[in-house]
Amino acid sequence: MGIKREDKAGRKAWTERGYRFFDAPAVILVLLDKSLDETCFRFDMGCVTQNICLAAMEYGLGTCVEYQAIVYHDAYRKYLNLPESKRLVCGIAIGYPNPDFPANHVVSTRVDIDTNTSWYGF
Ligand SMILES: Cc1cc2nc3c(=O)[nH]c(=O)nc-3n(C[C@H](O)[C@H](O)[C@H](O)COP(=O)(O)O)c2cc1C
Repeated sequence: MGIKREDKAGRKAWTERGYRFFDAPAVILVLLDKSLDETCFRFDMGCVTQNICLAAMEYGLGTCVEYQAIVYHDAYRKYLNLPESKRLVCGIAIGYPNPDFPANHVVSTRVDIDTNTSWYGF
């Protein structure tokens, strides 16, 4: 985005934009029923979230998974009347991507697969 490290105001504005879901026209909030086993929920919710993102791509939509959605979960609960029985897990900003927007040109790097994988018997 061309925001320099020392540009605190610029960084703050970008973070705040994240809280506005980067001005996406819609947001999907992923909720988990509190009665479900917390030890497994991260895996399950990750699967659900990723599948939503992959399905969206099929329709030409872009998504951005955001934990920023849960920072102010009390506000969502209040204004959207989310039931107490549900836990807010994450938000998914969704909309048709603007190819001219600089952040949409970012291609993050990945460490080599051998860094994350132990191979046995191969
Ligand atoms: C679980 C999860 C939570 C994230 N939360 C945020 C967030 O709150 N704000 C943000 O700007 N990006 C967040 N990201 C990163 C963006 O979603 C990121 O653009 C997306 O993962 C694609 O980046 P990649 O190309 O590095 O995979 C999060 C990603 C994941 C997987």
